[in-house]
Amino acid sequence: MTTSHPFTASVFIGTSLDGFIARKDGDLGWLTSRGEAAGDDLGYQDFIDGIDTVVMGRGTYEPALTYDPWPHEGKHVAVLSTTLEVGADPRVTVYRDLDQLIDGLAERGTKSVYVDGGQIITTFLRAGLVGEITITTVPVLLGTGLPLFGPLGGDVPLVHRSTKVFGAGVVQSTYGVLRQEEDPAG
Ligand SMILES: NC(=O)c1ccc[n+]([C@@H]2O[C@H](COP(=O)([O-])OP(=O)(O)OC[C@H]3O[C@@H](n4cnc5c(N)ncnc54)[C@H](OP(=O)(O)O)[C@@H]3O)[C@@H](O)[C@H]2O)c1
Repeated sequence: MTTSHPFTASVFIGTSLDGFIARKDGDLGWLTSRGEAAGDDLGYQDFIDGIDTVVMGRGTYEPALTYDPWPHEGKHVAVLSTTLEVGADPRVTVYRDLDQLIDGLAERGTKSVYVDGGQIITTFLRAGLVGEITITTVPVLLGTGLPLFGPLGGDVPLVHRSTKVFGAGVVQSTYGVLRQEEDPAG
């Protein structure tokens, strides 16, 4: 497990009540429509203002290419992928694996990372790299889709920091990730 790294990494993500971040075909309408109905930016601007680097998987990068304008202007964007062509998109840096990514972020003097995409979040959790998780849950069950979390290789102890209730039944909770030795149940 990776434990020594120079940056903090945070998750800020929207899910269905049953823990999906997108339908299997990538559809996000069930999330964006409810987010808009909440009538608030759900704390996103405050969160992103404290971030210098966005790390995402190819599965999150490719849909983001359809957004106009590019949603990550002004941030360093790192994409984990074994298949994307390196250097093809000047707005992002492609890394082939987690070790290469961590070295690259350290070399850049990265301080605060926004980790996005279910597989990448799981990879970061497994490596002990995530410090805080904010999950915005919208009131719908999808039954199937792309999951937020995958197998973690062990429990990840959390401490609850806050819960806010927005309009349209949108609920947002923030948790700190404890190190194993901090786990009160451990
Ligand atoms: N609900 C929300 O707030 C939210 C937020 C973000 C994304 N999304 C949606 O979630 C979906 C994407 O999530 P996802 O979990 O399917 O994918 P993801 O985590 O964004 O990306 C997965 C890809 O990342 C690469 N990857 C993963 N681990 C790697 C490693 N250790 N080393 C190198 N490359 C690695 C692989 O790309 P290669 O196959 O190229 O190797 C893999 O296919 C999209 O539909 C997106 O729109 C929703």
